[in-house]
Amino acid sequence: MRTTRTRTAAAALTAVVLSLSLAACGQSSAGGSKEEKADGKGSTIGIAMPTKSSERWIADGRNMVAEFKKLGYKTDLQYGEDDVDQQVSQIENMITKGVDVLVIAAIDGRALSDVLRQAGEQNIKVISYDRLILGSPDVDYYASFDNEKVGELQAGYIVDKLGLKSGSGKGPFNIELFAGSPDDNNTRYFFQGAWKTLKPYIDKKQLVIRSKQTKLDQITTLRWDGGTAQKRMDDLLTSAYSSAEVDAVLSPYDGISIGIISALKSDGYGTKSKPYPVVTGQDAEVASVKSIIAGQQTQTVYKDTRALAKQAVQMADAVLHDKKPEVNDTTTYNNEKLVVPSFLLDPVSVDKTNYQAELVDSGYIKESDLR
Ligand code: GAL
Repeated sequence: MRTTRTRTAAAALTAVVLSLSLAACGQSSAGGSKEEKADGKGSTIGIAMPTKSSERWIADGRNMVAEFKKLGYKTDLQYGEDDVDQQVSQIENMITKGVDVLVIAAIDGRALSDVLRQAGEQNIKVISYDRLILGSPDVDYYASFDNEKVGELQAGYIVDKLGLKSGSGKGPFNIELFAGSPDDNNTRYFFQGAWKTLKPYIDKKQLVIRSKQTKLDQITTLRWDGGTAQKRMDDLLTSAYSSAEVDAVLSPYDGISIGIISALKSDGYGTKSKPYPVVTGQDAEVASVKSIIAGQQTQTVYKDTRALAKQAVQMADAVLHDKKPEVNDTTTYNNEKLVVPSFLLDPVSVDKTNYQAELVDSGYIKESDLR
C-alpha cells in the first residue's frame, strides 16, 4: 500500500515538473510567446547565396540564419561559389530535402527556371534576394534595394565631385565606365541609374569617354570579378590614356573598384602630380572603406544587409503563415513572367566625410576592422 502511494506521489510530482519545464520551453530566448516559437519550429528555410568571395554575402547568410533562428526556424545555408551548376544542384537538394521556403540570391538570374518549376510544383514559396530571378513564373517576392538609385548615387557623386552641376560649364573631364556581371539583373538597373545621371554632361562634352566604350555589353565585368576589371582598366590606360589622364571611373561594386585602383597604381596614379581619379563603388566592404580612408577609392554605396536580411525573413515568415508580406513596390520589377512584389530599401552614398556616422556608429563595421 505504502509503495503504491509513494509511486503515485512521485508520478504526480514528475507530471508537475514536466509541465513546468514544458511551459518554460514555450518561451523563446527572445522572450516571445509559446505560439511564436512553436510556429517556426519544424519549418526549414533553404538559403542559396552566390559566393563567399565577397564579405557582404557572408554577412547576408549569417544575418538571415540568425534572424530565422530567433523565430524558431531551421535553416539550410549554401554558397554556390559563383558556379551556376553548383547553385542549381544546391537548390535541387534543398527541394528534395523538403525545405518550406527558398531564399535565393542567384548567380545567373536566368538559370533557375527548371529548378524553380520543381519548387512551384511542391508549393515551396520562393523569395528572390537582392538579385531578381528572371524568366521564371515561380518567384513570389523580391527583397532588395532601390537598384536604380544605387547607380544614381554613384554617378551623382562623380558629377558633384567634379563640380559639373548647374551650368558650371566645367570640364572636359575624362571618365571611364564599368558595369557589373551581365547575368545579374541588378547590373542593368545600376547602369541605367548612372547613365541617366551622366548623360547630360556627356552630351555637353563636360565628360568625355576616351575609350568610346559606353554600351553595356562593352563594359560589363563577368561575375563582378576584380581581376577582370583590373585587366580591362590596364587595357584602357594603355589604349586611351598614353597622353591623357583619367579623372573619374564609374565602378558599380567595391571588388571591381579595388581592381581598377590596382591598375591605376601600376600606371603611376596616386601621387601629387598624378592623383587618383574619382572612383565609386558599392557595398561598403572593409577593404574599400579602408581604401577610402587612405584616399584611394573615393566613394561607396552602403546597403545595410542587416535590414535586407530582416525583410527576407519577414517575407518568409508571412508566407508560412498564409499572410501577405509587407511590400512597397508592385510596379518596377518585371521578371518577364510577372511583376514581382518587392520590398526595396534605401541605399546611402558614403565617402570619407560620413563613413564614421553611417558605417561605424551604426555598428555595420567595427572601428577596429578599419585599422
Ligand atoms: C549585386 C549586388 C551588389 C554587389 C554585387 C557583387 O547583385 O546588388 O551589392 O554585391 O552583386 O556581389
